[in-house]
Amino acid sequence: MTLNYNIFKPNSITLEKSFADEISFSLNRHSKFISPKFFYDKKGSDLFEKICELPEYYPTRTEISILKKLKGELPLYLDGSFRLVELGSGSSVKTRLILDILNLVQDKTEYFPIDISEILTESSALLQRDYKDLHITGIIDTYEGGLEFLKNYDNKKNLIVFLGSSFGNFTSDEGKEFLEKINSTMKDNDLFLIGLDLVKDKMILENAYNDSQGVTAQFNLNVLSRINDE
Ligand SMILES: C[S@@+](CC[C@H](N)C(=O)[O-])C[C@H]1O[C@@H](n2cnc3c(N)ncnc32)[C@H](O)[C@@H]1O
Repeated sequence: MTLNYNIFKPNSITLEKSFADEISFSLNRHSKFISPKFFYDKKGSDLFEKICELPEYYPTRTEISILKKLKGELPLYLDGSFRLVELGSGSSVKTRLILDILNLVQDKTEYFPIDISEILTESSALLQRDYKDLHITGIIDTYEGGLEFLKNYDNKKNLIVFLGSSFGNFTSDEGKEFLEKINSTMKDNDLFLIGLDLVKDKMILENAYNDSQGVTAQFNLNVLSRINDE
């Protein structure tokens, strides 16, 4: 099989260095916090995939059912050929639904996944196995690092997608800054698709994020093991 994918790590040294510094800063604050991006080492990414299969974790299956319905609507916005850029691509499972839509309306599709986790390499290989003509350029980096890479890349039109309700991890100031960053990366004809959760009953949320099998608890505690290990 011809491999049609390249993986770049434009800022790997900075990322490794900043892990200790950022954790130290955030855990020395009066209100301690850990940035969600640090939850996704290889083990964290594997645990997140397990979370997606839990009956209580409604966001994944809900978003998949919405993406399936986009088959009629999304092509209406696709004026010409688009590269698919995905922020926080993870397992790239939902990606397949969007690729299937793009493949209906254009000949060749390029995919540009951006994810801080090494899962990106594995997901790209799996995707390549099933989408032989897909040209994949993966960026293992933060959203911002990946967007910076994309900004000066070329003049092709991009459909940027941000799924999984990850926008909910930002404070309102961070969210605004993030959207501004995306906006400043987008060219006039680029498109942006975001998956967001709606207001929910408290019980539904608590069950989704504190499941009965304790997988989410393992996912959360894994970041502490990661801090000790690294
Ligand atoms: C909640 S998961 C969503 C995965 C997938 N998009 C989905 O909808 O199932 C978030 C993904 O974003 C990645 N991620 C989290 N924070 C990130 C950041 N600051 N920069 C880049 N990737 C990040 C994680 O590694 C993970 O794969």
